[in-house]
Amino acid sequence: MAIKPLRKAVFPVGGLGTRFLPATKAVPKEMLPVVDRPLIQYAVDEAIEAGIEQMIFVTGRGKSAIEDHFDIAYELEATMSARGKSLKLLEQTRLAPGAVAYVRQQEPMGLGHAVWCARDIIGDEPFAVLLADDFMVGEPGCLKQMVAAYEKTGGNIICAQEVPDDMTHMYGVITPGTRDGALTEVKGLVEKPAAGTSPSNLAVIGRYILQPEVMRILETQGKGAGGEIQLTDAMARMIGDQPFHGLTFQGKRYDCGDKAGYMTANLAVALTRPEIAETVRIFAVDLLK
Ligand code: G1P
Repeated sequence: MAIKPLRKAVFPVGGLGTRFLPATKAVPKEMLPVVDRPLIQYAVDEAIEAGIEQMIFVTGRGKSAIEDHFDIAYELEATMSARGKSLKLLEQTRLAPGAVAYVRQQEPMGLGHAVWCARDIIGDEPFAVLLADDFMVGEPGCLKQMVAAYEKTGGNIICAQEVPDDMTHMYGVITPGTRDGALTEVKGLVEKPAAGTSPSNLAVIGRYILQPEVMRILETQGKGAGGEIQLTDAMARMIGDQPFHGLTFQGKRYDCGDKAGYMTANLAVALTRPEIAETVRIFAVDLLK
């Protein structure tokens, strides 16, 4: 069967971000910056790099800052132009006309439900899912590495990373089959296994390439871990019917849904920015003395 090209990506951005309160009371967690760009912009840039043409944001109440971020800011642009200031940084946030769609998830019922909200726009095409709080730094980017694998295997590909044994309960976890370099066959999937029951320590990280059949499965998917409709549970039901692989990504992941991970990401990215790297490095070294 011919492998259908990947053109669409879903960004579930309806989550409440309770772990970052009070910062996220009025600001969506996806708008928290790493140095000077919001998390969601890194994820969108990663998708564009991977060849994605249409971005589908599944939003919720209080998330309009995300729509504004990827829109034209007329007043700001007019004022900056009149003052002779460069618009380069603003232009980076503009998406091509028709390249964006917004769907509203009315209730936070889980990741599976959020993805399902995009079903009409996805139609009968494979699609990517990117969770912005998994901040992925690599060259090429994580999704691009996954697309390269997808072009060989087809089917479904999830990003996989080993996590410490005492953290498996926070993730979707893979029952691994045969390994071939960075690719691991996925034999089973379980969402947030209870301590001592995890099939391995190979966790699902927030990047997915999925076949549209998962939308049909989500239609009837009951609640799982945490009382939520889980994407992991729906994916598990496709194993055996379609190729299913985990890709170990070459690069670094920062869990920006977590305060320590978020601060680490800021420090790491700051140290790669020529205009601030030296000042930050000197300060960090001094602070740790
Ligand atoms: C979600 C997924 C989980 C995955 C994780 C990666 O969980 O449900 O399978 O391992 O993202 O970050 P959440 O972090 O939303 O609880």
